[in-house]
Amino acid sequence: MDNIRSIAIPPLTADLERVLIDADTIQRRVIELAAQINRDYADIEEPLILVGVLKGSFIYLADLCRKLTVPHVIDFIAVSSYGSGSESTGNVRLLMDTRRSLENHHVLIVEDILDTGYTLDYLVRNFKARGTKSVNTTVLLEKPDRHKVPVDLRYVGFTIPDVWVVGYGLDYGEQYRTLPYIAEMRIPN
Ligand code: IMP
Ligand code: MG
Repeated sequence: MDNIRSIAIPPLTADLERVLIDADTIQRRVIELAAQINRDYADIEEPLILVGVLKGSFIYLADLCRKLTVPHVIDFIAVSSYGSGSESTGNVRLLMDTRRSLENHHVLIVEDILDTGYTLDYLVRNFKARGTKSVNTTVLLEKPDRHKVPVDLRYVGFTIPDVWVVGYGLDYGEQYRTLPYIAEMRIPN
């Protein structure tokens, strides 16, 4: 039993400063966000297209969509705005587009975190230009101190301070994505 627990909830390593949001708190908030989305899209006539921004959103998207009662389909997009480091360049590139056409559909972009806002700003504009019926956004996390461009965020999980966070899909150099909680990273100097 102790073994199972240590696999399910990995202890903090020396690289992690503290747990910022624990797994239960995340789950409770995801249920609240899904309830809001279910209310807002209750009258939708065709499936809502949830577009997950790879890779960071995949765990949030998986938990969120399983709490949705409104008809929906899942698609993915991949973008790159960061080089190898942790500073956004503001230069967003589309690496992989959605499989289906978004034209004439209601779209909800599912993102892990809003930092500078460049990524979501780019995606919202890009999707609106495709003749979508509506484009809304949901982010699990938001760092208000870091915004460089305004983005209309519809469903926000948590507001966090300007620290680098990992876990629940978010990474640092591709590591720590599968931690069940959100932890603050101790960035090496
Ligand atoms: P933005 O374009 O600056 O808003 O950046 C958004 C993207 O940067 C997110 O989709 C994440 O992939 C990444 N990002 C920003 N802050 C963090 C963080 O604290 N941890 C992990 N990834 C982050
Ligand atoms: Mg991301």
